Amino acid sequence: MTSDAKTWRATVLTLFPEMFPGPLGVSLAGKALATGLWALEARDIRDSATDRHRSVDDTPAGGGPGMVLRADVLASAIDAVDLSGERPRLLMSPRGRPLTQSRVAELAAGPGPLIVCGRFEGIDQRVIEARRLEEVSIGDYVLSGGEIAAMALIDACVRLLPGVMGKPESGAEESFSDSLLEYPQYTRPQQFEGQPIPEILLSGDHAKIAAWRRAEAEALTRARRPDLWANRQIQPARGQKRPKNPTDG
Ligand code: ADE
Repeated sequence: MTSDAKTWRATVLTLFPEMFPGPLGVSLAGKALATGLWALEARDIRDSATDRHRSVDDTPAGGGPGMVLRADVLASAIDAVDLSGERPRLLMSPRGRPLTQSRVAELAAGPGPLIVCGRFEGIDQRVIEARRLEEVSIGDYVLSGGEIAAMALIDACVRLLPGVMGKPESGAEESFSDSLLEYPQYTRPQQFEGQPIPEILLSGDHAKIAAWRRAEAEALTRARRPDLWANRQIQPARGQKRPKNPTDG
């Protein structure tokens, strides 16, 4: 199905366009791509090379290992993209600001980003500044390039687009939307290797179930993510006013 000017679009600049759509072409994101709920454009940075060897990189100024992506080649690849509609310009990089669910929600609400995938030792700093690229990291580990990081970012955005997820509330209730990890889930069979489903979940008492889930989510978050727990804004239960955060003055 074709997309129009209003369709959320990810434009990826990469030296390996054949990596796309990759996992974005299957399951939820893939179905939404096929039905035109979003659009993906993977462009080869090498198409912007000007010399006869189509070279995109060179040795680092000042010496050192590896190769650096040239500013002129990447700048012309960026300049060839339609950036109208204030599209965010991202550069996937382990030295970027960590990606968060709230940044994902902002990106999903906009027209869709241009995403530059780094390779080699890095990218000439001048193009990062001249094209005001926002460096984004998906975690404190180093991938061999930005492509898999770009896919993670795109996947996180696409599932929030209208019409992509079956039940809209499953997006709002999940991990991170209120700075809590998700509570544990269970389904049939009722007994698994001697372990029953927690009785409360079979009680039919929705208020008690909600309270149990909240307590489980809080206990998990405290144990596994003390950083999230310390920074969280206390969320009111539905229909109630927001209580004061105990860490406020
Ligand atoms: N490229 C290489 N490692 C990365 C990371 N952790 N996040 C984003 N882009 C990357």
